[in-house]
Amino acid sequence: MIELGVNIDHVATVRQARRTYEPDPVWAAAEAELGGADGITIHLREDRRHIQDRDVELLKQTVHVKLNLEMSLADEIVDIACRVCPQQVSLVPERREEVTTEGGLDVIAQRDRTRAAVDRLRDAGIVTSAFIDPDPAQVATAHELGFNAVELHTGAYANATGEQISAELNKLIEGGARAVDLGLRLHAGHGLNYHNTTAVASIDQMAELNIGHSIISRAVFVGLRQAVREMKDLLRPFD
Ligand code: PXP
Repeated sequence: MIELGVNIDHVATVRQARRTYEPDPVWAAAEAELGGADGITIHLREDRRHIQDRDVELLKQTVHVKLNLEMSLADEIVDIACRVCPQQVSLVPERREEVTTEGGLDVIAQRDRTRAAVDRLRDAGIVTSAFIDPDPAQVATAHELGFNAVELHTGAYANATGEQISAELNKLIEGGARAVDLGLRLHAGHGLNYHNTTAVASIDQMAELNIGHSIISRAVFVGLRQAVREMKDLLRPFD
């Protein structure tokens, strides 16, 4: 079975546009669960542009599937994760000026800082995933640093056109095979939608996909429960 982690950051983005109480990501998580989500994914950014500390605390108490916290290596955020203890942390790069996460975490360049964060998270009993580009050297380093999983960045695949699509897909297949060989759990995400997800789902041993923008966009028209159900239906053949 491929687990679907539904990223609900955009619900918080709408709320923060007015600095009010609605729409509440806690409600969104419940709706996503009712639609069949296997996990709820949130990114607590250092600038708190969407998800707030209060959301992390409440979602930890109310989510009954896996809570996956995306976050940078910043000490302040690692402290929060170790205190709240989500089931899983996905370490991602973060730049203040970016619109969304660009590129994977460079675990080779940031080896020491990454290792320190992984050690702290593991000691707190949290499963760790590295959001990295599908580069075999990054995969090997993630393994060496003690991650349980890698989430391959599918952004380049999602943005590719024409012949580039299969070239980018092949990189994901090769990176995925390397991860599985090393005993890492295989995840993928970023830019996946109702048209491009099945090719990624068909990668051998794919275990988890984290999808946000496309599901929340569809939810505006059909409701979140239905939008999640439709994505789960696409993943059904891979059960
Ligand atoms: N995985 C990671 C690590 C991410 O940072 C994001 C975006 O927050 C996603 C998955 C989901 O990407 P999208 O919103 O494009 O589906």
